[in-house]
Amino acid sequence: MTSEGLAGALAAVLGGRGLLVQGCDSGPAGEALAPVRLRKNVSYVVLAVFLNEQDEVLLIQEAKRECRGSWYLPAGRMEPGETIVEALQREVKEEAGLHCEPLTLLSVEERGPSWIRFSFLAHPTGGILKTPKEADAESLQAAWYPRASLPTPLRAQDILHLIELAAQYRHRARHPFILPQELPCSVVCQRLVATFTSVQTVWVLVGTVGMPHLPVTACGLTPMEQRGGIKMAVLRLLQECLTLHHLAVETKGLLGLQHLGRDRTDGICLNVLVTVAFRNPGIQDEPPKVRGENFSWWKVVEEDLQSQLLQRLQESSVVPVNR
Ligand SMILES: *[C@@H]1O[C@H](CO)[C@@H](O)[C@H](O)[C@H]1NC(C)=O
Ligand SMILES: *[C@@H]1O[C@H](CO)[C@@H](O)[C@H](O)[C@H]1NC(C)=O
Repeated sequence: MTSEGLAGALAAVLGGRGLLVQGCDSGPAGEALAPVRLRKNVSYVVLAVFLNEQDEVLLIQEAKRECRGSWYLPAGRMEPGETIVEALQREVKEEAGLHCEPLTLLSVEERGPSWIRFSFLAHPTGGILKTPKEADAESLQAAWYPRASLPTPLRAQDILHLIELAAQYRHRARHPFILPQELPCSVVCQRLVATFTSVQTVWVLVGTVGMPHLPVTACGLTPMEQRGGIKMAVLRLLQECLTLHHLAVETKGLLGLQHLGRDRTDGICLNVLVTVAFRNPGIQDEPPKVRGENFSWWKVVEEDLQSQLLQRLQESSVVPVNR
């Protein structure tokens, strides 16, 4: 990939379109990059937030024995062979009786690859709200409740934050619509848009083994990598080329999400926006020195890309992860 290739790749990632994963620049030590299998070593959960014109939120009443009668947002585990959107539509149909379309990803929460939850803002496109007469093993019923007076008990309080995020997004969309891109991937990995900014200049870290490319880091399944969550994989890659102790590294959030789920590709690629800065305040004109030959900084001179990147950074215009 030439500099035009890099610019095209960055434009695709900033536009939420994604890019096929061609290989990984960093992987967990001593662990072969074996493909992951849904429900064997990875588990993904989908969740939907619906808000109507009256500021009501759609809740479902749980049927499962351990939480029977409590209220929650429509949510559930993905099944092998499904795309993320198909899983969302199936869960919403089973639990609430409605057909739906996702508008945008709202939030990603994770505890390493063994549990990742994708929450969407969605809107109903048909179907009939499930009444208590249709109670089954999936749910007892579904109903709209004013956001300010939710029923009790809730199955868990974690949905309050997601409902709040959805309301904020509807009030003022902080990031563009971000929907899963159907691109196959065999591992759980992250493609980094790792940026260093000085006054009006942005550099992006690139992998230089093969054609220059946006670096990809695979998440490990070892207990240590699981405990550290997916940010461990970002730090591992950066550690391979930068001296981190005088740097502050932050994952701002997601620019995009890639998954196919067919033909035994149960992996996921998260395109993440990361900032690298010096801990010591003061203007630094040049990015931190890169060790070795496998990475380098690319100065983004294309004006539209530069301004898009600066805007996404300044406004944190990304899908939050674990927040
Ligand atoms: C995940 O599980 C599958 C099926 O059990 C196995 O073949 C694969 O090696 C595992 N992947 C990793 C990365 O451990
Ligand atoms: C750079 O990449 C090559 C090829 O992937 C690898 O053999 C080498 O160990 C890497 N160098 C460093 C310093 O990680």
